[in-house]
Amino acid sequence: MRIRQHVNPLKANFFQIAVEPPELPAGVPVEVELGSAEAHFLMARAVEDPARVYVGVEIRRDHVALANAACERRGLNQVRSVFANLSVDLPRLFPAGRVSRFFLNFPDPWWKARQHKRRVMSPELVAELSGLLAEGGEIYLATDVFDIALDAMAVLEHDVSRRFVNLREPWTFLRESPFAARSRRERQCEAAGIHIWRLGYRKF
Ligand SMILES: C[S@@+](CC[C@H](N)C(=O)[O-])C[C@H]1O[C@@H](n2cnc3c(N)ncnc32)[C@H](O)[C@@H]1O
Repeated sequence: MRIRQHVNPLKANFFQIAVEPPELPAGVPVEVELGSAEAHFLMARAVEDPARVYVGVEIRRDHVALANAACERRGLNQVRSVFANLSVDLPRLFPAGRVSRFFLNFPDPWWKARQHKRRVMSPELVAELSGLLAEGGEIYLATDVFDIALDAMAVLEHDVSRRFVNLREPWTFLRESPFAARSRRERQCEAAGIHIWRLGYRKF
């Protein structure tokens, strides 16, 4: 198996990382942030709602180490960051139907093939997330880039298997975050008065 120490997310579409699956205690709901950086959002979620497990999937190993050290310092044992590539490693991290929520907070716009540079939520990723989500599980995406938000919404609204329902109405953005937790980028945007596009979908 290949182990990469330093990773350029621009070129990260296809390679696998030697992933160590997180511990997921039976019966405890699991929330996952894809591209979690320093895991600020997940740490805040754990304070907001401690009776869950929080997993950050992050391709930058230094972020993973820093996040896990910070969680240890703060005694947030239910938060764990894993060094992994969300484009290929998810099925090796989570059993089918095990995840309650996926969060994509300010995803980088270059996760997929060059011709879809903007696209973050591809039909393939939606199918994968759908398989990993429990019934009633949710996907939330937040971004300050309107094209990314609209692209993601189009993919979820057009999902061929019609597995997802918009948490408000079809083709409608959320008015606000239903959570108190904020990611680092989210806080920066809010402080600078930058509009954040938010969408939420539930699997049924
Ligand atoms: C713009 S930052 C947003 C970080 C955080 N979610 C926030 O809102 O502050 C995007 C993050 O996604 C990570 N990332 C990019 N491609 C990834 C991939 N293929 N797998 C896992 N993480 C990835 C980057 O390393 C970076 O930490």
